Amino acid sequence: MSNKIILDSKIKDFKKKINVSGDKSLSIRWILFSAIADGISKSTNLLMSQDVIAAIKSIRKFGIKIFYNNQICKIYGKGINGFKYKKNITIDAENSGTLGRLILGLLINTSFPIKLVGDKSLSKRDFKRITDPLSKFGAKFTLKKNKNLPLTIFGSNNLKGIKYHENRGSAQCKSAVIFGGLRAKGLTKIKAKKSRNHTELFSKFLNLPIKIKTKKNYDLIEIKKVNKIKANTYNIPSDISSSAFFIVLVALTEKSELTIKNVNINPSRIGVITILKKMGVKIKFNNKKYYNGEKLADIFIKSPKKLRAINCPSKLNAGAIDEFLIIFLVAAKAKGVSYFKNLSELNEKESPRLVWGEKILNKIGVKTISTNDSIKIFGNPNLSINKKVVIKNFLKDHRVFMTSVIAALSFGGHWTIHDRDSTKTSFPDFLKIIRNLKK
Ligand code: S3P
Repeated sequence: MSNKIILDSKIKDFKKKINVSGDKSLSIRWILFSAIADGISKSTNLLMSQDVIAAIKSIRKFGIKIFYNNQICKIYGKGINGFKYKKNITIDAENSGTLGRLILGLLINTSFPIKLVGDKSLSKRDFKRITDPLSKFGAKFTLKKNKNLPLTIFGSNNLKGIKYHENRGSAQCKSAVIFGGLRAKGLTKIKAKKSRNHTELFSKFLNLPIKIKTKKNYDLIEIKKVNKIKANTYNIPSDISSSAFFIVLVALTEKSELTIKNVNINPSRIGVITILKKMGVKIKFNNKKYYNGEKLADIFIKSPKKLRAINCPSKLNAGAIDEFLIIFLVAAKAKGVSYFKNLSELNEKESPRLVWGEKILNKIGVKTISTNDSIKIFGNPNLSINKKVVIKNFLKDHRVFMTSVIAALSFGGHWTIHDRDSTKTSFPDFLKIIRNLKK
């Protein structure tokens, strides 16, 4: 099959109910926690994507047995110190920042050096933000250009708890230090700018010695060394970040309605919902419930009559960090000038996404003014295009690909979008669901 997709017509209005795949952040965290638990953990609805399979392959390198079939997965954990460290182990995080960064927190007690590599995109990303705090526990690292992959970790058997101030709003940095804290003698204290809190909630679900104090702009987290983690059974809820593509598709059609079932609406992840509601999109949460600390709901979306521009408050940035590309499409069709700021982190993702967001908008004739951490988008409520658009060389960033598909289906034109296999990293079923919505 060709690795590009051609789209040349807008989607018609639809009324549907869909399921999207399991949450990526939770799938990877479930694997890492279960790998150091005692006994057999089992999950259902695990995301079967390349990022998650890379996590499974990495854990297997340490002698942990993992079986999976469709979305059901079993991990035979051998306890907190059950990893078999051998000479010359290399783990490959492929495209996954979450895997590459979080797993380092678990490996700070290695008895042999371990090499971590990634694909072209991951090898351009910053790992110093992780190795700096993890070095304070007593582990040592060597990194390419002091910052990038490949890196080698030299663990220690004399790890001590640390104090760490996380001020980027990065859940990956915070989570790597929480994992490190599980292995280090004494107390690890973290002051963290707000970001997704799945690691903290999962630690509580497992009854680990974690304390969390929630302040207005940051959280205070304390974690102690643990000796035993119980095996667990967990049903991974659906991913809000994958849902966001369809929420926006409805927002950009005239008269559609969509229900997305059983989605994780953790308050630290729903920045996209808050932003789109402010812009006039009709979104409701039905059948709300709690599941082991996470909040779930069916999301109902209806096409809005009008879309308003937004001056997006920066405090919503961390909770919508994976959704800005798709939010920019809504701004492109809103009345007025939208403004998104303090977004330098967006250029630290699988590709420089602030740059790519602007490129896509300019290709479809939307005026923008940008700096290295902000963008103004001059919306056009009548936006409809009638020309050729080619999207390629985007470092196979899955979210650039999927955003381009939504733009093609919403605004028309003749689109050639390369690297369709990029969806495999986070959302292999994406195009299948699009085909179902088109029926
Ligand atoms: C993630 C955290 C975010 C996000 C990524 C997943 C996680 O990254 O962009 O897709 O699962 O912890 P940062 O922590 O770098 O903001």
